[in-house]
Amino acid sequence: MSLDRIDAYLKERSGDFEEQLKALLRIPSVSAQPKHDADTRRAAEFIRDDLKAMSLDARIIETKRHPLVYAEWLKAEGKPTVLIYGHYDVQPPEPLEPWRSDPFEPVVRDGNLYARGATDDKGQMFTHLKAVEAWLKTDGRLPVNVKILIEGEEEVGGANLEEYVAQNAAKLKCDYAVISDTSQFAPGKPAITYGLKGLAYFEVHVKGANRDLHSGTYGGAVANPLNALAKIVASLTDADGRIAVAGFYDDVKPLEDWERDAFKKLPFSEADFQADLGVPALFGEAGYSTLERKGARPTCDVNGIWGGYAGDGPKTVLPREAGAKFSFRLVPDQDPKKIEALVRKHVEAATPPGVTVEFITHHGAPAVLVDVSTPGFQAATKAVEAAFGVKPLYIREGGSIPVVGLFKQHLNVDTLLLGWGQNDDNLHGPNEKFSLADFHRGIKASARLLDELARGA
Ligand code: BES
Ligand code: MN
Ligand code: MN
Repeated sequence: MSLDRIDAYLKERSGDFEEQLKALLRIPSVSAQPKHDADTRRAAEFIRDDLKAMSLDARIIETKRHPLVYAEWLKAEGKPTVLIYGHYDVQPPEPLEPWRSDPFEPVVRDGNLYARGATDDKGQMFTHLKAVEAWLKTDGRLPVNVKILIEGEEEVGGANLEEYVAQNAAKLKCDYAVISDTSQFAPGKPAITYGLKGLAYFEVHVKGANRDLHSGTYGGAVANPLNALAKIVASLTDADGRIAVAGFYDDVKPLEDWERDAFKKLPFSEADFQADLGVPALFGEAGYSTLERKGARPTCDVNGIWGGYAGDGPKTVLPREAGAKFSFRLVPDQDPKKIEALVRKHVEAATPPGVTVEFITHHGAPAVLVDVSTPGFQAATKAVEAAFGVKPLYIREGGSIPVVGLFKQHLNVDTLLLGWGQNDDNLHGPNEKFSLADFHRGIKASARLLDELARGA
């Protein structure tokens, strides 16, 4: 039987798969840093060559910045078509000091592979490539039609992918998209994510006098941009974190009773969560549980703030400029464009006299909710159960994967979000890791998924 032969192949090749993933992790494909542009391209070429080695006609597709990798196998006549997406770019590793080992020299400690990109998303993405390889090398064919699209600008919110998807909707046509770029609920508790938050990201530059001033000589006579910035930032939320921008909640879809019940049933301890983070208390919008706030309520966070003097000792300066980056995580049915207009208006009104504000919009993406009643969702449930030995939980995550919205908009398909990571994998942080056991279970689940989808689940 094919599945037995697949399992045997995965077992026999498991060590090679780990070495191949390590080789990919050694390539510092940091999409945000131009000094790594050549490395970023090298990662795309690595994936193209890996796909070619399994006899797929894989190609590099140029964009205005980092290239895409594309391959397809369409010989399963009458069977569904699956679009596998992943990203080979990674977040910057900085700050380097807290890393216990070189971010681009993968090492295994306690069954975990440590490297930048281990979980987000090279390791997770690679599980699908190895599952496809297992089918092709054992059966010489795939149970369903497969299209593979791997991008290199996910971490910089690049507009190039949107352009590609919009212009190639016919070529990318499929029945389901599959992405592994999320997390399990907890160790031993795999999950399928059916909701992701959207994102609206802004930056403000507050400007005062034409030069830095002595805060004694000029203080009280001219506005201080840092004081003004603090007022603007403080005005965005109220005392318990509810967003104070007028109209912000207008399009928020309320949580229905069935879903609040489902949130309550998830095996989660607020006390353990708090203890793990070492915070004196959990914090957030009144009237909602921690899981509801994390997964299904909009939030606002300042991501960076600067201005004035922050070096050693005191300096009595009245700075000429201050700035902040802040972002909102959105939920259905909020529209990032509409939110931008509301936030812009709010910032204008909250700006005290005596300063000017420059308002910059970074990337935005709408939130997504996946239809859980499709045969594909059932197929995914069976595949995860077969590989992990337990039924997956169904969860909503606070992170954002903009391409899921693009697939819905341009291809009219739902995405199966099968996360193999763990919440403490330190994605975007120092000592990023990915469990090798989860890596191998992920490959197995992906191989099963292709089979289950072919059966029409
Ligand atoms: N893989 C993450 C998204 C994610 C993380 C989803 C954890 C669910 C759980 C992705 O690579 C990412 O980092 N997305 C960014 C958004 C992007 C526009 C920069 C994010 O969520 O901040
Ligand atoms: Mn990712
Ligand atoms: Mn990421």
